[in-house]
Amino acid sequence: MRIYKVKDYGEMSRKAANIISAQVILKPDCVLGLATGSTPVGTYRQLVEWYEKGDLDFSEVRTVNLDEYKGLPRENDQSYYYFMHENLFDKVNIKPENTNLPDGTKEDSEEECARYEALIRSMGGVDLQLLGLGHNGHIGFNEPAEDFAKETHCVDLTERTIEANKRFFASADDVPRQAYTMGIGTIMRAKKILLVVSGEDKAETVAKAFFGPVTPEVPASILQLHEDVTIVADEAALSKAPC
Ligand code: F6R
Repeated sequence: MRIYKVKDYGEMSRKAANIISAQVILKPDCVLGLATGSTPVGTYRQLVEWYEKGDLDFSEVRTVNLDEYKGLPRENDQSYYYFMHENLFDKVNIKPENTNLPDGTKEDSEEECARYEALIRSMGGVDLQLLGLGHNGHIGFNEPAEDFAKETHCVDLTERTIEANKRFFASADDVPRQAYTMGIGTIMRAKKILLVVSGEDKAETVAKAFFGPVTPEVPASILQLHEDVTIVADEAALSKAPC
């Protein structure tokens, strides 16, 4: 596990965008696993800037997102589909047909999750998976649990996640209660993983996840067992870590 300690959110975003750019330059038709949430927004902004300067080409890139709320239509401005179009897809030359997210409008969870898992496999797997880190140690929507979920599945969101996400909705009541997410197994099959984390409010989670025991109670701790993980964290996020 390689940890880059950077000064602040801006540096974190540039470093992460650099790593993603390197992947796209080395393998123009790579499969990028993408995340939503507030942490990667600066990374996407940086990628868009470099694309606009002519330094990056997404024309062959294919993407699969980690997760999507169940029950939100694509045009809802809180859907992850909407987020990805706002922050990246509509601003670079990626082909819409090369972008993929779980379909939150599909009622049949089993069918949709099986479709998504098969899709990822049919693309040859993920070359580089971008992750954020939840306050409770979740990655994707894999919440603390008794075991690690292997494949894409439907989850009931915890109160803490609903609470953390309500800032994006009119009220906590409007936050969907379920989501489709890649499983821990799906994430661990990515060839490379890049996790971005910023801020003191995540410091305790960072210390537990990357310097504590590997346990499904802190889902991100499993990343300690992956052979190619890069963490880009700012000083505040690393303030409780022994490094
Ligand atoms: C988003 C996702 C989540 C977030 C996590 C951190 O696709 O899968 O696991 O990465 O909740 O969110 P932020 O970055 O908003 O703190």
